[in-house]
Amino acid sequence: MATWAVWVGSVRKGSYNAMVARTLPELAPAGTTFDFLPSVADFPIYDADIQAGGFPPVVEDTAARIAKADGLIIVTPEYNYSVPGGLKNAIDWVSRMPTKPLAKKKVLIQSASMGVFGGARAQYHLRQMLVFLDASVFNVPEVMVGKVQTLVADGKLTDATTRDFIAGQLKAFSEF
Ligand code: FNR
Repeated sequence: MATWAVWVGSVRKGSYNAMVARTLPELAPAGTTFDFLPSVADFPIYDADIQAGGFPPVVEDTAARIAKADGLIIVTPEYNYSVPGGLKNAIDWVSRMPTKPLAKKKVLIQSASMGVFGGARAQYHLRQMLVFLDASVFNVPEVMVGKVQTLVADGKLTDATTRDFIAGQLKAFSEF
């Protein structure tokens, strides 16, 4: 069965996006295994001078785990109509790895927001980056969880309609 790596774009403890990510194993097709990647907070600010001295271990570790996975799921908030800087920075690091772990990788994007649009604008900026990295990004159905604060309890996504919708998306991703 498939292994999916999961990357969360928020670093705060009470993150709603982390709650969505944490719920995915309950909603995925039976037998799917999950690898939760290091926090984007663990990556230094991208600096070619650091790279010249060798990639930081967190970059090498993350790249190897993405390369090994059958798919990558990125669950992210939207900051100022775009991708949070921390996630962008981590992607920038991984993109410099000579192994190119995102090239041809099957990628699923999800987002959650306290607003009504559910992070839709961040998703489209993330897609744009992934074009340059030659990732194979899943298209539809899209999951943009709006008003997420009303759909969670005890650190998990609990709203039945949203859970069903995401389960359907994960099934389609597994077929993709
Ligand atoms: C936000 N937030 C936000 N929400 C949104 O729907 N569109 C936006 O453009 C922004 N912009 C934005 C910028 C910054 C700097 C912050 C800190 C927040 C609100 C954001 O969606 C909300 O704080 C989420 O709860 C963040 O996700 P996590 O941390 O709960 O996963």
